Amino acid sequence: MILYVNACARTDSRTDRIASKLLEKLDGDVKEVKLSEIIFPNTNEKFLKERADYIEADNYDDPYFDMAKQFAKADTIVIAAPYWDLSFPAALKQYIEHINVLGITFEYSVEGIPIGLCKAKKLYYVMTAGGAYVPEEFGFGYIKALAMNFYGIKDVELIKAIGLDIIGNDAEAIVQDCISDL
Ligand SMILES: Cc1cc2nc3c(=O)[nH]c(=O)nc-3n(C[C@H](O)[C@H](O)[C@H](O)COP(=O)(O)O)c2cc1C
Repeated sequence: MILYVNACARTDSRTDRIASKLLEKLDGDVKEVKLSEIIFPNTNEKFLKERADYIEADNYDDPYFDMAKQFAKADTIVIAAPYWDLSFPAALKQYIEHINVLGITFEYSVEGIPIGLCKAKKLYYVMTAGGAYVPEEFGFGYIKALAMNFYGIKDVELIKAIGLDIIGNDAEAIVQDCISDL
């Protein structure tokens, strides 16, 4: 199963268009999680306590854990996220907070080092940006660190198209170039 984590908000999202072409090239059933349609629980104290109690009891039966289980059992993961405010949409951070579940997506060694429990061998991160100042550390770099160190997914690839909102740039040509390089 290929898990498509779609953090794109706009109907005519360029990031989603590139990711959809990538998904056509990958072999397998695609399950999409459209983050803009999910209302995530508020991670307040009550919620955190309830979740910690379930985890401590090794009880992962509550449907809340389905999203983390789905992530852990995917063969390939494709994340599509526009570049927002030097990073990615907050909905993706919310998703991460709810799939990072001790005992499902990762566990800790006795030394406190995370050990990945995810099945996926590869994670693609598809990103488009409006400008040309696009440092990677707060967006792709963060996801890569999570994938490699928490989930145990060592093969992480960035696919990007940038400069799409710069006046004078042919955004459509940049998107098509990116698609033809897939
Ligand atoms: C809320 C918001 C924040 C953005 N922040 C940045 C940014 O920090 N740097 C940048 O280069 N472009 C930024 N952009 C422009 C988007 O990255 C760009 O338009 C992107 O291609 C949008 O992807 P989409 O077509 O998939 O929606 C921002 C756009 C929005 C809506």
